[in-house]
Amino acid sequence: MPIIQFPEDFRWGAATAAYQIEGAWNEGGRGLSIWDTYAHTPGKVRNGDNGDTACDSYHRYEEDIAYIKELGLRTYRFSISWPRIFPDGTGEVNREGMDYYHRLVNKLLENGIEPFCTLYHWDLPQALQDKGGWKNRDTIGAFVRYADTMFKAFAGKIKLWTTFNEPWCVSFKAHYIGDLAPGEQNLQSALDVAHHLMIAHGRTVQQFRQSGVPGEIGYAPNVSWREPFSSRQEDIAACGRRTGWMVEWFLDPLFKGEYPEFMAEAFAAQGASVQIQPGDMEDIRQPVDFLGINYYTGSLGRYKQGNGLFELEDIDEGYERTDFNWPIYPQGLYKVLVHIKERYGAVPVYITENGACYDGDPVQGRLRDDKRTGYLKKHLLQLKRAMEDGVPVKGYMAWSLLDNFEWADGYSRRFGLIHVDFNTLKRTPKASFYWYKKVIGNGWLEV
Ligand code: BGC
Repeated sequence: MPIIQFPEDFRWGAATAAYQIEGAWNEGGRGLSIWDTYAHTPGKVRNGDNGDTACDSYHRYEEDIAYIKELGLRTYRFSISWPRIFPDGTGEVNREGMDYYHRLVNKLLENGIEPFCTLYHWDLPQALQDKGGWKNRDTIGAFVRYADTMFKAFAGKIKLWTTFNEPWCVSFKAHYIGDLAPGEQNLQSALDVAHHLMIAHGRTVQQFRQSGVPGEIGYAPNVSWREPFSSRQEDIAACGRRTGWMVEWFLDPLFKGEYPEFMAEAFAAQGASVQIQPGDMEDIRQPVDFLGINYYTGSLGRYKQGNGLFELEDIDEGYERTDFNWPIYPQGLYKVLVHIKERYGAVPVYITENGACYDGDPVQGRLRDDKRTGYLKKHLLQLKRAMEDGVPVKGYMAWSLLDNFEWADGYSRRFGLIHVDFNTLKRTPKASFYWYKKVIGNGWLEV
């Protein structure tokens, strides 16, 4: 059987996010986040679920770290809850919140696990949302101050920093599609939010450099891939717009200091445009140390006149699908990574998320999730293809370490390598956990 070998220093990891796992929503001086408000609003989250308890990792982090250790992870990607640090988004630091993250990070370091910190994984302090949230430019300054506080508090301990997780979701999904907090449906709002996130990212990178704190900083856009059905120009352009919505809209400003014209035209056709003030593009265009890439799905696509924002229809070739109904399209990971390298150069990449939703509970203490293993294997294979083609991939973080609060789908959707019983909070490693442990231990994959 062919062996797919990964480099010795490859950072094998797994990822989680604060609101999805911590629970303890009203403990330790934590303030409210927009996700508390959203999840507590009837009708927003499936089955009326909320993150009040989630996986209770706030109390059970030592047990979780023991699993991370057993799995053999070199890196653990987690996020910090901004309202645990600044309950109202600004003002005084909440010591109890800071202490929690010190305990977590110290425990990781004691176990030889590299902490990979995301500063923003969607849980904006509600107090800032009350003043307009990311639509208000003042939120930019509040974020930079929060980030700088964390850089200084964890100097020398955390060396891998991500500013934003999935700015596309924070802007377009949460403010245009409207099925994430705060749940608005307005394209202009989404464009304003996206622009403010980019400025906040750029100013945070500047602040990180000025602070002299050792380490690397980047951010983690979610990307997907649409493969043109034919070589007809209209198919290529429609797919380009769909990919460009997630890739070019968020990467061109960073690497080229401008927004892509073809996307601006697509937005203008809907009456929306990005509002740029003097100095914004200079602020955004800051060299990053790496790009975090979150990839889950893709598809073939074809031009269809008048069909939505991009005049595109997805073509289903009969894909296998995860329990989330997302097509499994591993070749899209290869394609999008090569596309990014061709457009922006060989920037170091971490796959900051990749994984599959498959539901199911253990039977007599065992859970065979072979479909998840199959998904991960196919994506690692495509990742290695991209590496062979010169994409400098430094590591891979599986989503997710644990089954957790899957946003608007609550606890009904399971992405974990470890099963969590949400009644008892008992953890049970799945078969995919043991498969991944073997891959990490060997440093190679058998296909
Ligand atoms: C997010 C995760 C989420 C996962 C699966 C990503 O968009 O970063 O928080 O759980 O996808 O939906």
